[in-house]
Amino acid sequence: MYPQALYPRHRSRRLRATYGARALVRETHVTPSDFILPVFVKAGGGLDEPIPSMPGVSRRTLPSLIDHAHEVYALGVPAIAVFPKIDDAHKTLGGEEAWSDDGLVPDVVRALKAALPGLLVITDVALDPYSSLGQDGVVIDDKIHNDKTIDALVRQACCQARAGADFVAPSDMMDGRVGRIREALDAAGHVDTAILAYSAKYASCFYGPFRDALDSAPRGGTDKKTYQMDPANGDEALHEVGQDLAEGADMIMVKPGLPYLDILWRVKQEFKRPTAVYHVSGEYAMIKAAAAHGWLDERSVVLETMTSFKRAGADAILTYYAVEAARWLKAG
Ligand code: PBG
Repeated sequence: MYPQALYPRHRSRRLRATYGARALVRETHVTPSDFILPVFVKAGGGLDEPIPSMPGVSRRTLPSLIDHAHEVYALGVPAIAVFPKIDDAHKTLGGEEAWSDDGLVPDVVRALKAALPGLLVITDVALDPYSSLGQDGVVIDDKIHNDKTIDALVRQACCQARAGADFVAPSDMMDGRVGRIREALDAAGHVDTAILAYSAKYASCFYGPFRDALDSAPRGGTDKKTYQMDPANGDEALHEVGQDLAEGADMIMVKPGLPYLDILWRVKQEFKRPTAVYHVSGEYAMIKAAAAHGWLDERSVVLETMTSFKRAGADAILTYYAVEAARWLKAG
């Protein structure tokens, strides 16, 4: 027999013993209203095109996207982020198609807002889908020219706001773009268009499947390390976030997700501002692949992952799992 004094005084297991006790003391809750669904859309008719490295995700035609958006909205997911697959014929070195008022993205935004005015539409501000080199910016002499890129991004953001985007989301990582975009939106009367800034966006190899989806892998110029952040740096993320907030970002983002939970935590602790995290394509693909082999239980892994994002400080989670996770959450 142990002497009485050596028995544990605090038995944490009491509050783990029953479903009810666990529910009462749970600190973190995930709901469908935490999610933003990234979607891929292509011009023209025909069939949706499945993306092999992202099982369950397709490049959708506009009618298929509208159908899907109804389902997304009905599940309580408040927002979608639109990414266009642009035909090669429209790709140029300067990415001019990015600010064509009758381009694919403005068409999609108008159609979504007409069909579902309450669903938030977030548009991506970056040139990569439109760039013949797959770069987020304007390439001059094999270099991404920061300030000329900003001129282009300002045009692109204003074009998206004209079409009715609720949030514009610069994902390009040029210096100073948030302030210039805010100024231009305000000058054009788009004072209510919000900015979701990809502030701490890393030069990550977890974006591979996304680049398959848009056929946007870098083809020349440089890789993306001259503008996206070095995965080895943490303090720099705080600097980037601070800059974007000072320039007028309404929300900021950390990307990718799980490998950068420490960054998410630090950003939220430091700034206490609305913070999004992007559970990127490679993270999605890893879970899908393991689940397909029967090596992981998909539902549990996804919901645990979403919980970890919320626990680390995320207010919003961009995830290709938004619809499935919302369904799982509803089913309880
Ligand atoms: C590019 C962009 C990328 C993603 C979102 N916007 C890829 C990149 O920077 O090369 C990646 C998202 C994902 O992997 O799911 N502007």
